[in-house]
Amino acid sequence: MNIILCGFMGCGKSTIGRRAAQKLKLEFVDMDSFIEESAGMSVSEIFEKYGEEEFRRMETDAARKLSEGNNRIIATGGGAVLNPENVRLLKSNGVIIMLQVSPDTVLYRLRNNTTRPLLQREDKEAAVRELMKNRNPVYRQAASVIINANLPSAQVAVQVCHFAKNYIDKPPVTVL
Ligand code: S3P
Repeated sequence: MNIILCGFMGCGKSTIGRRAAQKLKLEFVDMDSFIEESAGMSVSEIFEKYGEEEFRRMETDAARKLSEGNNRIIATGGGAVLNPENVRLLKSNGVIIMLQVSPDTVLYRLRNNTTRPLLQREDKEAAVRELMKNRNPVYRQAASVIINANLPSAQVAVQVCHFAKNYIDKPPVTVL
């Protein structure tokens, strides 16, 4: 089984996932990096060259491949769990945790970021607020646990570890 982190861009999925995986001695996989390695180019380049639709197809491919492995902490991209097929694949071998953040946290953390194609808009604040309003219900629906990720990443990682440990350490149920 895997622990999967979902949530809006800038919620800390990669930073927190990496920290938690280190503490729990699990493998960490960042879905965007996984896609970038397979494609041999950055997410921005994929969007630019092939468009968002092709990126989403690659994302589903990655969800399928990553769900075949075990004992991983997987950081998804902020749009990955918007596709029910990805949720189905990821949940078939794992549990999803949502890292919840406020629009203000995202705007502050990504104030100088240029690698998120969906936020390269003149009115970044409006884009964040609008996307988040539409996406938060979907993240919540996909997740089994919601963690407040407006806090420093070290604190959030402790919470993720706490949950993941209980989950991963649980012995499989025996049915007689
Ligand atoms: C996206 C989020 C990005 C990346 C791509 C699309 C999204 O990942 O997958 O730019 O649709 O929210 P992060 O959430 O890691 O920024």
